[in-house]
Amino acid sequence: NKVVLAYSGGLDTSVILKWLQETYDCEVVTFTADLGQGEELEPARKKAEAAGVKEIYIEDVREDFIANYVFPMFRANSLYEGVYLLGTSIARPLIAKRQIEIANEVGADAVSHGATGKGNDQVRFELGYYGLKPDIKVISPWREWDLNSRSKLISYAEQRGIAVPEGKRGEPPFSMDANLLHISYEGNALEDPWVEAREDMFTRSVSPEQAPDQPTYIEIDFEKGDPVAIDGAKLSPATLLTELNKVAGANGIGRVDIVESRFVGMKSRGVYETPGGTILLTAHRAIESICLDRGELHLKDDLMPRYAELIYNGFWFSPERLALQAAIDETQKFCTGTVRLKLYKGNVIVVGRKSQYSLYDEKIASFEDDGGLYDQKDAAGFIKLQALRLRTLGVNRGQTY
Ligand code: ARG
Ligand code: SIN
Repeated sequence: NKVVLAYSGGLDTSVILKWLQETYDCEVVTFTADLGQGEELEPARKKAEAAGVKEIYIEDVREDFIANYVFPMFRANSLYEGVYLLGTSIARPLIAKRQIEIANEVGADAVSHGATGKGNDQVRFELGYYGLKPDIKVISPWREWDLNSRSKLISYAEQRGIAVPEGKRGEPPFSMDANLLHISYEGNALEDPWVEAREDMFTRSVSPEQAPDQPTYIEIDFEKGDPVAIDGAKLSPATLLTELNKVAGANGIGRVDIVESRFVGMKSRGVYETPGGTILLTAHRAIESICLDRGELHLKDDLMPRYAELIYNGFWFSPERLALQAAIDETQKFCTGTVRLKLYKGNVIVVGRKSQYSLYDEKIASFEDDGGLYDQKDAAGFIKLQALRLRTLGVNRGQTY
């Protein structure tokens, strides 16, 4: 029997690899994805080879990740609990899907991951696995083994000749997860939600205080709801987000410090950097403001928290997510145009927007003569009918508020 492991090459998944071989006497197939986390992948290959792995999958999935997961999610303006841009949540379904595809290719009957039993990630991985392959066997080492302290994990590694990086010997400073959309920091020094994160923790942005005193202007072109160019230069999805990350990070944009409600029930404190994504959210809302009708906009805003919660909770591969996605995508057909933004010390400020499909009509909106497009006298009846029930209540109940 074979198991496909989501393998980063780090200490934890290296221990898991060994543990799977020993505990299940199985052949382990490793899958390592470049999601834009900014780490070399070749060391993962070397380590997997050293551990006797024969089938090693190492793939650059950045374009797939941004085009088919991140951009569809941004069409909805997704935010979990008002602030979290779902940077970790949206990467898990892709990893799960590739693991299942690889399992099918190599004839594996099981998959495994390195998420703990206390978090959201285990749920996201496993709902993905089961949704895509109902009879898959899932091995979750963190829920099975007794290596639940740092020192046990390290001595297990040392006994088996797995290299333990110096920095990993003490308590690790944070639990981190990174990809092209974001980096997260949780745990340890951040566990007291009253204590501010140290400046030297951040890796993707300067602090707003350190950002330049001059603003940076950029223009983003959208086509059918997705960003396609920066300052007129067409870019692939992953390249575009990489560029946005640079300019956003340099201007101190994209940090959030939140306490969120995990699906498994607990509150947890996290600090995230989502530089490019923060620009994208504001820019997308701006292009929608002229390209979408009020009915579309408000319906999207009603649906958004439900959609975001589905992604947070791991239901990317579910019929209700697909149904919502179809509705959201339908609203993006005419969401094409350009947004101009000013980036300044942590702020993303919209300063202009234009579109061939713009619903904004200067003639109608103007307080100057509109040539009869809008008759102000019509507003009298409009308001009077809207007021009917309020007046009835006033008479009937003597409502005074
Ligand atoms: N709390 C965030 C979420 O649930 C980030 C999780 C980060 N995961 C990790 N393995 N460090 O999406
Ligand atoms: C983990 O438990 O592996 C990380 C935190 C989370 O998944 O929410």
